[in-house]
Amino acid sequence: MTRTTVRTQVAIVGAGPAGLLLSHLLAAEGIDSVVIDSRTRENIEGTVKAGTLEYGTVQLLQDSCATRNTATVAQRHDGIELWFDGDSHRVDFVGLTGKNAYLYPQHEVLIDLIATRLELGQDIRFETTATGISAADGTTPTVTVHGPEGDEYDIVADFLVGADGARSLVRPVVTGSTHGGSFREYPFAWLGILCRAPRSNEELIYSNSPDGFALISQRTDTVQRMYIQCDPDTDPNALSEAELWAQFQRHVPGKQLIEGPIFQRDVLRFRSFVASAMRRGRVAIIGDAAHTVPPTGAKGMNLAIADTVLLSGALRALLNENDSRPLDDFEDRALERIWKSQHFSWWMTSLTHLTPDASDFDRRRQLGELRALFDSESGQRYLADFYVGWPFAML
Ligand code: DHB
Repeated sequence: MTRTTVRTQVAIVGAGPAGLLLSHLLAAEGIDSVVIDSRTRENIEGTVKAGTLEYGTVQLLQDSCATRNTATVAQRHDGIELWFDGDSHRVDFVGLTGKNAYLYPQHEVLIDLIATRLELGQDIRFETTATGISAADGTTPTVTVHGPEGDEYDIVADFLVGADGARSLVRPVVTGSTHGGSFREYPFAWLGILCRAPRSNEELIYSNSPDGFALISQRTDTVQRMYIQCDPDTDPNALSEAELWAQFQRHVPGKQLIEGPIFQRDVLRFRSFVASAMRRGRVAIIGDAAHTVPPTGAKGMNLAIADTVLLSGALRALLNENDSRPLDDFEDRALERIWKSQHFSWWMTSLTHLTPDASDFDRRRQLGELRALFDSESGQRYLADFYVGWPFAML
């Protein structure tokens, strides 16, 4: 018995920011796609994730009409505060670069994108798990899937994209191995909390304190997100609320945090990773499937969107103009930004975190670096340029 097949131009595994935005940008070029994801729509929309969006990311979401509520949900941030040596030091993004960044949690981007795509008739198949990939070296790569009713069928495409996150099923098809690539682990993590309280500060605070790093971020007028540096094996539930607040407070000396009931705690591990390849024939990986950055500076989603913009241009040339040259350039062009972002995420981390074995020399050198950065306008601009992000490269 032959298995049922679904035919499309581009099969996209993963309904995260990269996969959904890719379907949107392709549709604008008249290219049809099928997006699959093993999760339910409720699960995708309900998983609260971080999101600092670069200037260019918000412009792109608005210009491509991918989201309707960037104007109301995205909170504009014109700068950040870096706290060190007991003082606040502001980096004025607008004054230094003419641009700003936005705090716009990832799940809000997804709620928007899913609604927009479904309204425009996009084929998104939730609770549909990819179980195998075949014909990866041919002209019609095929993904075998399991649907919500236990039905198994093939999606046959002209191109297959893995936008399926850090545990990507598509990655080994492209790289030949599960983990092959450049990898770095860090000897610390973040203990994150969500609490019900008003904002403690107008802008985000990145604090380098003698007790370690803290980030005082935000979600809404009534919900706040904060992190402190911790050991990767920390049990997030080991401390009482009062003990947690005392810890957070110690990491931001000189600033009074507004406390409130803590309703979520988690530990975020730090990793840097770039896969050894991003494309093989008519199969490509983008976003977290291709790379991971540590969270400091929040580059992850922006980088996924930059990959998506590049790949959408390459697929337009391939599928609409039968020109494969942009696709041949895709990986090299994507890697330029990926390695710049890898550097920034590592550098923001090294500037603000101390390793457990740090010596007095290490600590004082780090404060020297922060001081040198802030005493120089070009130093501040270097940080601000990275943070607000660069224009997207196009193919
Ligand atoms: C958030 C996370 C980050 O890594 C960051 O640099 C800024 C903000 C957040 O969760 O709000």
